Amino acid sequence: MKQIIIQFGGTGDLFKKKLLPAYMQLAAKGYNFSIITLGRRFSTREEFIAHLPQRPDQKFLKRLEYVQYDMKDPASLERVSSKAQQLVGDECEVEFIYYIALQPSLYEAAIRQIEQINTHMHCTVSKKIIVEKPFGFDLDTATAYNTILTSVFTNEEIYRIDHYLGKEFMQNLLIMRFHNDIIRGIWNNHFIDHIQIIFDEDLGVEERLGFYEQIGVVRDTVQNHILQVITHLTMSEPSAFTPEEISHEKLRVLRAIKPVKDFTLSRYRSLAELQGDSIRTPTYTSFKLFVDTFEFSGVPIYVRTGKMQSEGRSQIYVNFKNTMGRVLNNSRIAQNSVIITTHPEMNIDITLNMKMPNTRWETQPVRFNFNHAETFGINTPEAYEQIVEKILRSDKSLFPSMSEIQEAWRIVTPTLQGNVVETYDDHTLPASAVRLLEEDGRVWNA
Ligand SMILES: NC(=O)c1ccc[n+]([C@@H]2O[C@H](COP(=O)([O-])OP(=O)(O)OC[C@H]3O[C@@H](n4cnc5c(N)ncnc54)[C@H](OP(=O)(O)O)[C@@H]3O)[C@@H](O)[C@H]2O)c1
Repeated sequence: MKQIIIQFGGTGDLFKKKLLPAYMQLAAKGYNFSIITLGRRFSTREEFIAHLPQRPDQKFLKRLEYVQYDMKDPASLERVSSKAQQLVGDECEVEFIYYIALQPSLYEAAIRQIEQINTHMHCTVSKKIIVEKPFGFDLDTATAYNTILTSVFTNEEIYRIDHYLGKEFMQNLLIMRFHNDIIRGIWNNHFIDHIQIIFDEDLGVEERLGFYEQIGVVRDTVQNHILQVITHLTMSEPSAFTPEEISHEKLRVLRAIKPVKDFTLSRYRSLAELQGDSIRTPTYTSFKLFVDTFEFSGVPIYVRTGKMQSEGRSQIYVNFKNTMGRVLNNSRIAQNSVIITTHPEMNIDITLNMKMPNTRWETQPVRFNFNHAETFGINTPEAYEQIVEKILRSDKSLFPSMSEIQEAWRIVTPTLQGNVVETYDDHTLPASAVRLLEEDGRVWNA
């Protein structure tokens, strides 16, 4: 069956950086789809193509259409409908995939317009809708958007994206935890002291200011990516690796998290300066939470994430209790850790204490390393390629359920109401993030 992707936000950052390369890879793999990209800023297809960051080959360009589209202009809708009709032609064995890559405040209008595009078709085509994260602006809007979505689409037709679920490391976390006996036995509150999740970006808001200003760091990454990472780190083993069973276990984790209380919000200095101090949007947050399940209660999970840091890195430190260090009262015996690095490259390290040569019993922590690219090569598909491929194949295994999204909003709600407490110098860690761990007698591992 032919598939037609109708790409809302087709001139945006996401399309240029992530979706276009994914579509090109999938076309090269033999998938049969066309794309109608929609955006306001270019009036013609030629102009749109001239501005693409990479020039697709002629074969791919034949699949790529552009329609100038402003949601507020009723004539736009007719242009989209007639382009869609033209691509459908006489065939009715067609599926429309509506991909909404817009800011959440435009969802409702987009869904209403999609309803009209569908009714304009001369035959009934099958359909799917893809909605980018963040799904909604808070719990109430997410629930309201869902009501609108489900009035037009069935649950099977709705794909809510959190592209982190398409990342190889997220899938690998489950394999590492559940397919290795030595890890399974120690992955709980008997052995784990605490967990640190550090997702730092070196860049600032840049040209996404208009979008980011309304969203801020919690909606951009915590409500979705970070909470999904926490579910993968702490969920119990699903009875099968099916979307339903995995989602069931993730939901148990999310329900066991109390609303976040110990949190700080900050913003980098040049953002405020450039905008005449009018921007109050938080660009950095740090917080502590607990997953109150039998296996994880009592294990603090510290998170810090945001923009304009000295180094872009995404790392998870799972730090184990240092019983031997305490028993022997020997500070040279270091805590064991499992360190999962996902950016700049994917590594998993396990630190173990080893004897230093030419000493009696002195030890040194040594890292045992798995580097994904060295072991499996560099051709692992990017997250968006995996996600879009699943959509084309109607496979719902890498998408959060609405219940997960609602729980995630519930957890972050207090932070959405919080005020920015601090301005931090560009490329430095906010002092409030440092204090968060100091107050518990700990330091960040990186
Ligand atoms: N950028 C990323 O790396 C990334 C990663 C993951 C998820 N996402 C998600 O993807 C979504 C889009 O993000 P983005 O970064 O691509 O945003 P963006 O660069 O700001 O692009 C926004 C898009 O919306 C279009 N638009 C705005 N108002 C419109 C209107 N009234 N009518 C029609 N189109 C309108 C813009 O068209 P014109 O500019 O042509 O007017 C543009 O194509 C967000 O939900 C974001 O969270 C983005």
